[in-house]
Amino acid sequence: PVPIIIDCDPGHDDAVAILLAAGDPAIDLLAITTVAGNQVVEKTTLNARRICTAAGITDVPIAAGCDRPLVQPLYVADDVHGDSGMDGPHFGEPTVDAVAEHAVDLMHGILTGHPEPVTLVPTAPLTNIALLLTRYPEVVPRIREIVLMGGSTERGNRTPAAEFNMYVDPEAADIVFRSGVPVTMCGLNVTHQALATPDVLARLDGLGTELGRICVELMTYFASTYRRLWGFEAPPLHDPVAVARLIDPSIVECADASVAVELRGEYTRGATVVDLHRYLDRPVNARVAVSLDSAKFWDRVVAAVDTLGKK
Ligand code: BDR
Ligand code: CA
Repeated sequence: PVPIIIDCDPGHDDAVAILLAAGDPAIDLLAITTVAGNQVVEKTTLNARRICTAAGITDVPIAAGCDRPLVQPLYVADDVHGDSGMDGPHFGEPTVDAVAEHAVDLMHGILTGHPEPVTLVPTAPLTNIALLLTRYPEVVPRIREIVLMGGSTERGNRTPAAEFNMYVDPEAADIVFRSGVPVTMCGLNVTHQALATPDVLARLDGLGTELGRICVELMTYFASTYRRLWGFEAPPLHDPVAVARLIDPSIVECADASVAVELRGEYTRGATVVDLHRYLDRPVNARVAVSLDSAKFWDRVVAAVDTLGKK
């Protein structure tokens, strides 16, 4: 299995990314780190503990990280994810705790101690990852690759140009894309194909487990905000797409490109400028997701929820 650390801001779709990583046999989930994004870091950390408690994920350390972006104030997505950051299901008091260590120090310790290089899977603003790369540059060779959810080859979802994770901390994203670490970007152009349609919800419900029901409640809330804000008929589960790329590369087809993060644009700050057609004379610095096999994707998500729910 591929050893990974998920760096997230749960978040409905982040929660499903955690379940997919913990429940799929192709992944060895070493840690979950949290950051401010969809909500403040206290809430995203609580939500990570909640979903781990609900799924019986008790042996994966959770550590809280940065409480705000590198340069600008925090901008949360409470309109999409609710006041808790993961509205919908009722969660009791979590029994899974977070460790006291800062997320960046936990990542550093795992990267230096693990026998093989580790893949980082950020599904949130890239603040923790940028801090890791700048504070501990010596760990770069210990990172196998960074497979992230964020950006787009097309337009944004927070401004006309910028996707949310990029928009919240563009400076951090810029550091990551210029770091020299192999980066795979799973952006809106593919995650908008990972739609939790009614038949997906029926399959999760049909598992007959409490965890399956929690997933249905998460996706039902997410569906209501995506319908209200953007007119989607079913909500896109962005974040698990990055995990799916590592489970089976054939689920998420990629192409090489140069990617730059716009930092100064008048209307385009946080936009990912993805040069798939080599218009600009810039070196390739990323693999960019270009298509999704959504049938295979949902098979793996449902199977992971099934596995965890039966434990
Ligand atoms: C991204 O923004 C967040 O709201 C989601 O969790 C996902 O990581 C999609 O733009
Ligand atoms: Ca997220």
